[in-house]
Amino acid sequence: MPAQRARLTVDLDALAANYALFRAQAAGAEVGPVVKADGYGLGAAEVSRRLWAEGARSFFVARLEEGEALRAALGPERPAAIHVFDGATGGSGPRLAASTLIPILNSPGQVEVYSTFSRAHGSALPCGLHIDTGMNRLGLRPEELEALAAAPDRLTGLDIGLVMSHLACADHEEHPLNARQAGRFRKARALFPNARASLSNSAGVFLGADFHHELVRPGVGLYGGGPFNRPDKRIAAVARLEAPILDVRAVAAGETVGYGADFEADRPYRAAIVAAGYADGVPRAAWPEGKVWFAGALRPVLGRVSMDLLVIDVTGCDAAAPGAMVELLGPNLPLDDVAKAGGTIAHAILTGLGRRAERVYLGAAG
Ligand SMILES: Cc1ncc(COP(=O)(O)O)c(C=O)c1O
Repeated sequence: MPAQRARLTVDLDALAANYALFRAQAAGAEVGPVVKADGYGLGAAEVSRRLWAEGARSFFVARLEEGEALRAALGPERPAAIHVFDGATGGSGPRLAASTLIPILNSPGQVEVYSTFSRAHGSALPCGLHIDTGMNRLGLRPEELEALAAAPDRLTGLDIGLVMSHLACADHEEHPLNARQAGRFRKARALFPNARASLSNSAGVFLGADFHHELVRPGVGLYGGGPFNRPDKRIAAVARLEAPILDVRAVAAGETVGYGADFEADRPYRAAIVAAGYADGVPRAAWPEGKVWFAGALRPVLGRVSMDLLVIDVTGCDAAAPGAMVELLGPNLPLDDVAKAGGTIAHAILTGLGRRAERVYLGAAG
């Protein structure tokens, strides 16, 4: 019998269904998947190849190295437009150009560096501009953008195909910053009428047509996260994390479970010891809110999650036995619920999935 260990199943058909949902929701805007951090931990190569097969042509990563790896994974037969959010940092020009990557320039300094590189390179290089409309993270400030638009010689050599910004509060539908950012973005993009415009992440797509422009950039929603940090029935679970029970034991009333002796049994329990812990991506803070799915029911986590193990309550459940698989995340245990119980967000759960679990991809590879 093969040794049992945790298994992460990535359902590429569910991914494709979510991509179709975003296309419908974006009503004509292009849907450009965000596949940074190794496709939110699910495998940028596998995820991107399938999304290409579903019609995706523009992709977004954060780092230069992620862009290079994605270019290699997609190969010459899938000539995707791969955008790099970090932009053009000093000296990265030759590598960006060698892998035909599109840096999103995000400061006057980057514009200067890439324009100089582009002129020396001999042909106009595609790039995007990131405008900061209120997040105070990356991006040219509106006045810096106006100064650039007023001095086109500073842009010589650049083929600016995309103007983008990023919403700070899209997951809070009612937040007043959403409308303020949308207004600032509309003004800013008008300075570059020939470039396409992109404002929205997953949640932004659900804020309505004012937020769509020509291209939207969903990440977490493609991978199963609800747009507003809560499960959404329209979005299919893509990742399923399961782990085997190693042992089942009785815990007497008054005994404690796990590090810190934080959980004290107020009655006799049957407890199952599951072979997964925070090294596998289970939030360390899962207890006391966290649950797992086993034998047709949600069952509470008992005590602190440790690196390799967690303990669950299987009192009265005959199916609990060594070797039986427990679902820690998946169709029966939505990503957003797991995140909430762990005091975090779906993005962090996905990107925190460990490398130890066996990985299985379901559905056509693309
Ligand atoms: C600039 C930018 N655009 C789009 C996204 C996708 O966001 P989400 O995963 O919330 O859809 C991100 C992710 O953090 C991002 O940094």
